[in-house]
Amino acid sequence: MRELVDKLAQNRVLSAEEFKELLSAECENSYLHQRAREAQQRVYGKKIFIRGLVEFTNYCKHNCYYCGLRSGNTGVQRYRLSMEQIMECCQTGYGMGFRTFVLQGGEDDYYTDDRLTEIIGNIRETYPDCAITLSVGERSRESFQRLFDAGADRYLLRHETANIHHYNSLHPANMSPENRKKCLRDLKEIGFQVGCGFLIGSPGQTPDNIVEDFLFIKELDPAMVGIGPFIPHSATPFANEQAGGLNLTLNALAILRLMKPNLLLPATTALGSIHEKGREMGILAGANVVMPNLSPVDTRKKYLLYDSKIGTEDEPQNAREKIDKQMQVIGYEVITARGDYVAI
Ligand code: 5AD
Ligand code: SF4
Repeated sequence: MRELVDKLAQNRVLSAEEFKELLSAECENSYLHQRAREAQQRVYGKKIFIRGLVEFTNYCKHNCYYCGLRSGNTGVQRYRLSMEQIMECCQTGYGMGFRTFVLQGGEDDYYTDDRLTEIIGNIRETYPDCAITLSVGERSRESFQRLFDAGADRYLLRHETANIHHYNSLHPANMSPENRKKCLRDLKEIGFQVGCGFLIGSPGQTPDNIVEDFLFIKELDPAMVGIGPFIPHSATPFANEQAGGLNLTLNALAILRLMKPNLLLPATTALGSIHEKGREMGILAGANVVMPNLSPVDTRKKYLLYDSKIGTEDEPQNAREKIDKQMQVIGYEVITARGDYVAI
């Protein structure tokens, strides 16, 4: 096992068989995690970047089989935050030291380029020192360009799974893995700091699928990768499926850190939702970003991608204090820099 970890740290890639062996390793305090932490600390120190998440619309035209916000779930009370509410979230966040705002939503056609660029323009003008990250799904290249020109810096679009057949088993036929990958390439060419990402343990996923994810990431060379366990939502076709595993998620994080030491790698909410100490464990496996929720508390329960999502009760101020403490306990410090990707 040690030789494999050393080989990955040195070559930044392994064969499919070797990747699979590392993925299934027993992990707490393993050599894999230790080396991942070394790589993380060499680039970023023991410092954790924070991003303020604003879940501004839970309308979505898509019907992904795994997601609680799918259009087919008529049990969701749909909402859109007003411009004032969005700006209030940013104001609260700014006061607490957030210097990145992540505008996240379902794929909601209400948000035309004009409407989105107006929001981006307002945040850009009010907070010239902050990074603006978008997470609003697939759009045309022209649309991405307009959002970039309006002042957005980063874009998160998880590829969900790099394997075409697996992708098609998680999504209805009107979504295509090719278009998703095209969007990611367009975003990168336009100049966004791009984040892709995938679900761990989504129904039907094989270890070979995860290896494919690693190789896709190697090729795309994104600034960020968001990964978290699949967690079933009761009002979806996957209600009775198993959640993704903690070990597997932590090992995948550690492998990604060793493949690309400067990667921005969040310890995700989903990871924190499957284990009380999930986010801390994520940091100790190589993650270096956390993304607390800045959305109004009364809308959070309406943004449930999966059952038992954490952080739906915390006021933003508490959420910040809580994360500061959690990170301190494991010897890390939350910092308020923009936290841009540094190419090395
Ligand atoms: N479990 C875990 N993550 C999920 N997402 C959507 N549904 C679930 C779920 N049931 C993730 C997807 C999407 C991101 C916004 O949330 O990866 O890209
Ligand atoms: Fe919509 Fe995203 Fe959920 Fe799919 S995963 S239904 S695109 S919010």
